[in-house]
Order: sequence, then structure tokens, then C-alpha cells
Amino acid sequence: MKNFTVFGYARTKLTDEELRNMISGTLTCRIDQRENCEDKMDQFLKRCFYHAGQYDSEGDFSELNSKLKEKEAGKVSNRLFYLSIPPNIFVDVVRSASLRASSLNGWTRVIVEKPFGRDSESSGELTRCLKQYLTEDQIFRIDHYLGKELVENLSVLRFSNLVFEPLWSRDYIRNVQLIFSEDFGTEGRGGYFDNYGIIRDIMQNHLLQILALFAMETPVSLDAEDVRNEKVKVLRSMKPLQLEDVIVGQYKGHSKSGRSYPAYTDDPTVPKDSRTPTFAAAALFINNARWDGVPFLMKAGKALHTRRAEVRVQFRHVPGNLYKRNFGTDLDKATNELVLRVQPDEAIYLKINNKVPGLGMRLDRSDLNLLYSARYPREIPDAYERLLLDAIAGERRLFIRSDELDAAWALFTPMLKELELKKIVPELYPHGSRGPVGAHYLAAKYNVRWGDLSSDDS
Ligand code: BG6
Repeated sequence: MKNFTVFGYARTKLTDEELRNMISGTLTCRIDQRENCEDKMDQFLKRCFYHAGQYDSEGDFSELNSKLKEKEAGKVSNRLFYLSIPPNIFVDVVRSASLRASSLNGWTRVIVEKPFGRDSESSGELTRCLKQYLTEDQIFRIDHYLGKELVENLSVLRFSNLVFEPLWSRDYIRNVQLIFSEDFGTEGRGGYFDNYGIIRDIMQNHLLQILALFAMETPVSLDAEDVRNEKVKVLRSMKPLQLEDVIVGQYKGHSKSGRSYPAYTDDPTVPKDSRTPTFAAAALFINNARWDGVPFLMKAGKALHTRRAEVRVQFRHVPGNLYKRNFGTDLDKATNELVLRVQPDEAIYLKINNKVPGLGMRLDRSDLNLLYSARYPREIPDAYERLLLDAIAGERRLFIRSDELDAAWALFTPMLKELELKKIVPELYPHGSRGPVGAHYLAAKYNVRWGDLSSDDS
């Protein structure tokens, strides 16, 4: 892209040079090292500029508009605004930018980041306000999990391999688990987090989006609207989450090997008596012919023992298994499990039963393992790189349409309200642990064992 400029806009007064210095501190070269990385980075920095202004000032945005026009020099101009700002100023910025700094001869698009409201009402209100100034086609709502390589690959795996799609239903799948864990707390983000909690921060968007892609019917095509239509359909087929199918937790301080790890409420921006969950597990159900009765379990938490995001698919028992005797009493140990490890160490592996070589008949569990780092030595692009390029190209498939957002909130809002109304106290778990024991009871209620905690996991 030859005629490309990046403008920073915020209240802080900065010169172009100061902005460039800030960017160069974190800029990395994503192209082949042989291709003159330094030069490319320099060329990029020369295209970066800055304009200081207030978020609600149409006058300041007019000034930005003049500077943009100067750079565009009469050519067709396309403008992409990326709003990396707190939600309470979304609408002010969109108003000023759309009224004063829209392109007059090309497209104008706006990328917004979550949180898109806190519940159905506030999210609907935000959408209504944005739509006073923008059409749906101009709004690109980011869920960066949709830009992750393994999440993109989910549909490829399912729809382009004969061995998977025919198994993708209640007939063969016993349960599906969507697991997110981080081994650090809310560090420095307590102010934001305390108003949202882990259910809104991770489950209602990242995990639910993966679930929708996992469970949707085959779309008519890969066009954005066809894919998003199927996602909305499956979300609308889901039963709103019930409070008795949710458990919540919050991390407490913990000392290990002479080091002490803080509690969530030790964060100075978090009220001491906060009941905000930093961990949650939930069981969701899809009321359609394909998934009737199959539990979709979600688990998300901060300050756990490991950092990991994965999808686990546990298959049913082999009917009349000939080798039953070789497995002892625990037949669950012999079922197949497909794991998509989104991060870290991207991988797809399938647990199968196998005979241990030798004269006897001893069975063993092995993994058919596609480890990305071994198969694809090239660096995997960051989710945001993919999504930004898509927004520039006008590819909307990986962005959230407003009816999808409404459907997602409709599933979570009643339960979130009840949780707050009933002042449910989260179960405390030590920082760095495997989370509250309640998650096991919830899974057990549906005859499920968390795959990430099983002893034979790789
Ligand atoms: C964000 C959440 O959306 O995703 C954060 O607000 C979380 O709380 C982050 O830490 C995780 O993203 P990633 O890509 O690091 O797994």
C-alpha cells in the first residue's frame, strides 16, 4: 500500500516525532529478515502522524480532517477509525469523527473493541447510538479470538475433512469444553475488570464465538453474511444460561516458595468487598436437532496455574467395545477426545486407543498430534494483524454483527442480573491454583470430566 498514513489521535499533546518514538519502541518486523527490515520499519514510521484533540470536539476532528486531506492530496480516500477508548466516549468520538472527518469520496469504517455494553439493554443502546452516525456495514466489532489461527482453522477442520463433519452431532459427541485460563491476575486492569467480571470479559464473547463457530450448521458459502447468519441461528437456538448451571470464583492471595501472590481485592482499584468473579464455569445447551442434550461446558479464569485456551471434544463410548476388558472399569478413559489448543503452542490432537506393540494385548492411549511449530515453522500472525487487514479489505466474516451481539447478550443477561441481584459470593481459590472445586461439581452434574485436568493429557 503506497498511499497509506496512520494518524494517532488523543488528548495528550505529542509531536509526530514523539509518536514515532513511542511506536518504534514496540514495532517488530513481521516480514522476512532478508527483506531489509530496518528500511521497511523506517518507511512505516515516516507515515505515522499525530493530532491532539478532545474526544467530543467536532472542531478538533475538523482539524484532523484537514490534515488527512493534505496527505490524501485529492486522491480517493478510505478512512478506518480504530477506537481504542473506554466505552463511555464511543458515541462522542463516533459523532465527531463521522460528522467532521468522514471520507467524502471513499469509504469510512470504524473498528470498535469490547465491551459492547454490560447487558442486553446497554448493548442495544450503544448500537442504537452508533447507528445514528454509522450504518451496520461501517461498524467492525472486534472479537480478537476470531482472528486467532486455530479458531480460523476450526471450520476448515470440520468442513473439509470427511472424518469429522459426520461425527459433529449428539450422536457421537458426548460433550464439548471451551477452556480459557491465564496464569496472571487482573494486574493494573482492576478498574475496568471490576465492572465486568470474567463472564462478560471472556465467556459472553471469546468463548461463545468459538462455540457458535463450532456448533453452527454448514453455511451456504464462506461469505460474511452466510457465516454470520448461521452463527446467529445457533446462538438463538441456545437456552439462556441458568444460574444453577454457573459457578463463580475469585482468586485470593497465596504464598508459594517464599513468594506471595496478591488476591484480586488487593488491587488498589478494586473495592475490598468486591464480588466480581475472576473465574466462572458454566454449562450451556443448544436446543436443536444436532445438539439436543449435549453439554457445552465453559470455564474461564484469571490467576490460575497455567495459561491456555482450548476446545475439547469428548466423544461417546464405542458401542459394545470389544476391548472393554482391557480398559478396566473406567470406560471414560477409552473414549476419543479431539483437542484444539488455541494457545500457547498451537496444536490439534486426537486421543486414540492403540495396542502397545508386543505379544500381549495391552492397550494404550496415544495422540495423533499436529503441533503447529513442528509442521509450520513460520511465525503465526497475531490475531489483530489478520483482523486489521480484513477491516481494510472490507471482509466482515470475522467481525460481530449487531444481531449476533444481541443474541449473545440475550443468553447471558438474565443470569448476570440474577447473580448480581442475589449477591452470589464467589468461591475463593488460591492465586495460581486450578480454580474452585465447584467447577468439578458442575461438570459432574452433567457427567463430564474436565479434559484439561485429566492425568493423561499431553
Ligand atoms: C481480552 C480480555 O479480551 O482478552 C483480557 O479483556 C484477556 O482480560 C485477553 O486477558 C486475552 O487475550 P489473549 O489473546 O492474550 O489470550
